[in-house]
Amino acid sequence: MISQTPYEAIGGEETIRKLVNAFYLRVAKDPLLRPIFPEDLTLTTQKQFMFLTQFLGGEPLYSNVYGHPMMRARHMRFQITPKRAERWLALMKEAMDEIGMEGPAREYMYQRLIQVAHHMVNSPDDETTNHLASL
Ligand code: HEM
Repeated sequence: MISQTPYEAIGGEETIRKLVNAFYLRVAKDPLLRPIFPEDLTLTTQKQFMFLTQFLGGEPLYSNVYGHPMMRARHMRFQITPKRAERWLALMKEAMDEIGMEGPAREYMYQRLIQVAHHMVNSPDDETTNHLASL
């Protein structure tokens, strides 16, 4: 029996490269996400390419260079609100549509991204903050 990694099933390097490019072009134009990202998204795009490669069972490109992913810890210096997590996921879905990803491998990847995105949330949405402040 041939067993494929999710990395292979989605189309490997070429697909991930296209995906991160399409995704960060959207991030660059998004009013909710743009403010917390660096001006130049080149390195961010490259890091995400490396991370997603290993996340899906490809070579451990990210860890080879940056060490243990510790993604939640690496996101702590940014305000990741539930709204930002939903927007991140929405833009990822749009990027997947744009590059023509489909089928069970895409669905699998997206479900795992939902879990990670929710795990990254470290701040309440503004309404909640205001609500608590007024108590
Ligand atoms: C939930 C919403 C998310 C927001 C708002 C967010 C935001 C950010 C921001 C602002 C950075 C810093 C960019 C930089 O300094 O270059 C970053 C880095 C990164 N994010 Fe996210 N992120 C989210 C979810 C995710 C998810 C779900 C993943 C993985 C599947 C992820 C993977 C990464 C990686 C690999 C980096 C680079 C870390 C490094 O500096 O080495 N992020 N993210």
